[in-house]
Amino acid sequence: MALIIFTLRLAIGILLFPMFLLNLLGLWNRICKKWFPYFLRRFTVMYNEQMGGKKRELFSNLPEFAGPSGKLSLLEVGCGTGANFKFYPAGCRVTCIDPNPNFEKFLIKSVAENRHLQFERFVVAAGENMQQVADGSMDVVVCTLVLCSVQNPEQILQEVCRVLRPGGAFYFLEHVAAESSTWNYFWQQVLDPAWYLLFDGCNLTRQSWKALERARFSKLELQHLQAPLPVELVRPHICGYAVK
Ligand SMILES: C[S@@+](CC[C@H](N)C(=O)[O-])C[C@H]1O[C@@H](n2cnc3c(N)ncnc32)[C@H](O)[C@@H]1O
Ligand SMILES: *[C@@H]1O[C@H](CO)[C@@H](O)[C@H](O)[C@H]1NC(C)=O
Repeated sequence: MALIIFTLRLAIGILLFPMFLLNLLGLWNRICKKWFPYFLRRFTVMYNEQMGGKKRELFSNLPEFAGPSGKLSLLEVGCGTGANFKFYPAGCRVTCIDPNPNFEKFLIKSVAENRHLQFERFVVAAGENMQQVADGSMDVVVCTLVLCSVQNPEQILQEVCRVLRPGGAFYFLEHVAAESSTWNYFWQQVLDPAWYLLFDGCNLTRQSWKALERARFSKLELQHLQAPLPVELVRPHICGYAVK
């Protein structure tokens, strides 16, 4: 099986040789960082159409985590274009972090379309090192479709725990590796290297639930589901929340 996967990967590598070459020359990343926000803006419309119900359900108990003032301080890590803004409760104070500065203009547009929120700031940084965000300063941290794309999920979760106040919650909705006995997992493995380059470092075969189970949360509510998306490769999802 490993040999078949290797051979198919090689064939795809030859087909997409220009892209892999640009990557070797260090040029691909620059193109991708500019292109990706435009792609994501379109993708988000489709994703929210299919997954809006799930997001509403997931975020329905957000207000329970508001601080003593009654306000909810929320940090969105890997915010992208601001795809989740419309699901947050009114008055929510939103801080955003993303390492790709090209998202800023898309984010500003989403802020303008979501007047019910109190937007704080956009920080350009990776989730692995969020030194601009103080310890224990957030009631809630959110990641959607981010753990697939980060360098180090364990380190992000450590940082999430650091910035959350005790009793604060981490909300997640992520696509993950399919079950290992399935054809879907076979194709995920075959297409992973090309997919990774095409979609800005998105990994098809991450078992992100394992990092969540290992992280030091006091409570973890985690659900596996098949998302009703047109591309089967990204249908296996996990969603839920974890309390510090
Ligand atoms: C597939 S997009 C999802 C964006 C958005 N959360 C959504 O649901 O539409 C992945 C996002 O993760 C960001 N990202 C990549 N590496 C990251 C890292 N190390 N830390 C935080 N965010 C990262 C990307 O720039 C991109 O905005
Ligand atoms: C995706 O993640 C898997 C498992 O963590 C890893 O083995 C693989 O090399 C990653 N793929 C890429 C393209 O980095």
